[in-house]
Order: sequence, then C-alpha cells, then structure tokens
Amino acid sequence: MTQQGFKRKKILNIVGARPNFVKIAPLIEAMGQFNRDSNRMIFESVLVHTGQHYDAKMSDAFFADLEIPKPDVFLGVGSGSHAEQTAHIMLAFEKICLNEKPDLLLVVGDVNSTLACSLVASKLGIRIAHVEAGLRSGDRSMPEEINRIVTDALSDCLFVSEESGVGHLLEEGKRKEQIFLVGNVMIDTLYKYREKAKRSQILKSLNAAPKQYGIITLHRPSNVDQRETLGPILEVLSKLSKKIPLFFPVHPRTRQQIEKWNLSHYFFNLPANGHGIYWTEPMGYLDFLCLMDHSRIILTDSGGIQEESTALKVPCLTLRENTERPVTITEGTNSLVGTNPDHILKAGMDIIENGQPEKKVPLLWDGNSAQRIVHILQKFL
Ligand code: UD1
Repeated sequence: MTQQGFKRKKILNIVGARPNFVKIAPLIEAMGQFNRDSNRMIFESVLVHTGQHYDAKMSDAFFADLEIPKPDVFLGVGSGSHAEQTAHIMLAFEKICLNEKPDLLLVVGDVNSTLACSLVASKLGIRIAHVEAGLRSGDRSMPEEINRIVTDALSDCLFVSEESGVGHLLEEGKRKEQIFLVGNVMIDTLYKYREKAKRSQILKSLNAAPKQYGIITLHRPSNVDQRETLGPILEVLSKLSKKIPLFFPVHPRTRQQIEKWNLSHYFFNLPANGHGIYWTEPMGYLDFLCLMDHSRIILTDSGGIQEESTALKVPCLTLRENTERPVTITEGTNSLVGTNPDHILKAGMDIIENGQPEKKVPLLWDGNSAQRIVHILQKFL
C-alpha cells in the first residue's frame, strides 16, 4: 500500500526489563521520525511498561538517559516466580489490549514481559512483530531461550539482528517473507549515545584510568543462584583483579545472592585505590557505556554486553557455556570461557597482558536498524 492510502496504525510497544529500554528507544524515535517525514501520524505509538524492573537504577535512569517518553501505561507487576510474573503481566495486559485495540504488538528481546504480552496478543488475534528474533542458545535451561522460541512461534513479522537467526527461524518453519535481517537496534542506541557518554564523569568518580581496568557483570541464575558456582567465580575474578582493578556494577539478583552466601569479602569499596574487585551500584546507560568504552576487558554473562563490546571493539569473555549471539565470536571480540576457573584465569590474563587482534563489527550493525524496521512495518501493516 502507498503512504497515500495508509490509515493510522496503533502500535503497542512493550518494555519490562533493563535491556528492553535500550532496544525500544530507537524504535520509538524512528516511528516519530517516520511520522514527521510523512507529515502525518502513520504510527500511533503507545508505550507499555510492565514494571518487571521497577528500581530507579534499573528503570528510571534508563528512561532519562535514553530520552524515552514516559510510558503511557504502567502495569506495575514487579518480581515473582516466572509463572507469577508472566501470569500477572498477562492478566494486566489483556485489559490494555481490549481497551486500546492495537493494530500491532511490538516486542523486543527475550524477557518474561516479551513472552507474556505475545501470548495475550496472539490469543486476541493481534499481529505481533518481534525485534531480535531467531537468536538461539540451544539451552532450554535458560528462561530466555523458552521466551525466544515461544515469542517467535507466535510472531507474524520477525526482525533479526544476525544471520544465525535467519537459519533458526527457517528451520522452525517460519516463512522467508516474514523474516527480515535488519541489524541490531541495541547498537543503534550505542552509536547514538557514544559521544555523549564520553562526557560522563564515571571514570573520575571511580578513580579509574582508561584501558587500565576491567568490568564484571553477572546476573544469570545459572551463575549466581548457587553458592558452589558463584563462590569459585568470585574467587578466580579476585585473582584476576590482582593484575588490574575490576569494577562490578552488581545486579539486584546477584546482590541478594552475595548477601545470602556471605560473599561480600571479595569486594572492595570505592573509590578504587589499587587492584581488587570494586562493588558499584547498577549504573545508568551513559555511565556504563563510557565505562565499557574505556575498559581493557569485560567479563560478563549478559547477552547485550556481548554485542555492545563487539561494537566497541573491547575484548569480552563470556562466562557461559553457550551463546545465542555467535556472530560476536566469529566476527567480534567475544570468547566463551564458561565457568571453569582455570579457563577464566588463563583467558583473562592473556587479554590483560597481550590484548586481542583487531575484530570486525557484524553486518548491518550500523546505527540504522530501527529505521529499516519502521519502513518494513509500514509496508507490512
Ligand atoms: C531479567 C531478564 C533477563 C535480563 C535481565 C536484565 C527474564 C526471564 N530475565 O532478569 O533476561 O537479562 O532482566 O537485567 O525476564 N529486582 C530488583 N529490582 C528491579 C528488578 C529486579 O530488586 O528493578 C530483583 C528482584 O528481587 C527479582 C530479581 O531482581 O526477584 C530478578 O529480577 P527478574 O526481573 O525476575 O529477572 P532478572 O534476573 O533481572
């Protein structure tokens, strides 16, 4: 259909947890830009925040840093078991769908909010577009893997960030016409804010010198929920931190476990005045981007940070046995080291002492992915 004959379409955009905010920001901006370029409202964008993440540091700080408009709807579901959290979102979101009667549900990533809203929309006959479709770790013990598989099965329009995703979707029976390799919206956000992030005072406040420190982030249940896993990981990171200071912005889930297992003796308080692991609160987007950009090494179990470190060309060791983002290994700066302490120590020392050969940024990770998605959506609708 041409833009001329195009009727206004209402899109419900879903966010729930921290990584969603980084992905939705460029999409909302691109829809607004499309409307301005067309001189009329083509996309009526409604932002729904489920409240899966609710702390100021996990949520509000990101809305401010990324200039995301205030949510139109806040479901306030909070934490709980997977079934509780998913069910609470579904109950609350069904009412919103019935009330708003959207033309499309737009979901990003793989968190419980992504799954819950897709289930509701699908049963109400609302079409679904999934951004970051097709990623597979092959590990169904990860809650996110279940969320990805189900969300993709229910989605009508699948936007893929790396080539591996296209293959998975075809294998799972999706049609070629539904699948669009568009690049990575998270990297759109990274490029947009990289310069601004350079003005952050975070290095100063941590007493850190560029390329003379590393970063740790850990929050996967498989790494942090058992003492027998978390203890040895902290022990080996502590050994590595004798070489360079390691800054560790601690996720609320990890904090609960560190307190529960009495593991806080592994941490020093800020500001840094030597080598060791330094505990920090979760950071806002700009501070953390600045910290990543100037770091010598990143050790993580996050999905998004594997991609961000690849775009920033900072070496990354992923403390997992698998990844749903293989392009960060085949082309980018990422390596899987699992949780074996000897492997972590060897790989970490090697990077700290010798660095890493120059790596590539994957195809279409160019800052324009959200724009591509919005142009495709306009045709799709
Ligand atoms: C969720 C996502 C994960 C994503 C991560 C990013 C799922 C299944 N997992 O994991 O994919 O990488 O977010 O952070 O959706 N908590 C707070 N304050 C908050 C949020 C959480 O204190 O603002 C605490 C709660 O006690 C909660 C725990 O952290 O029980 C875990 O939160 P939850 O949303 O269940 O999952 P995450 O581990 O954050």
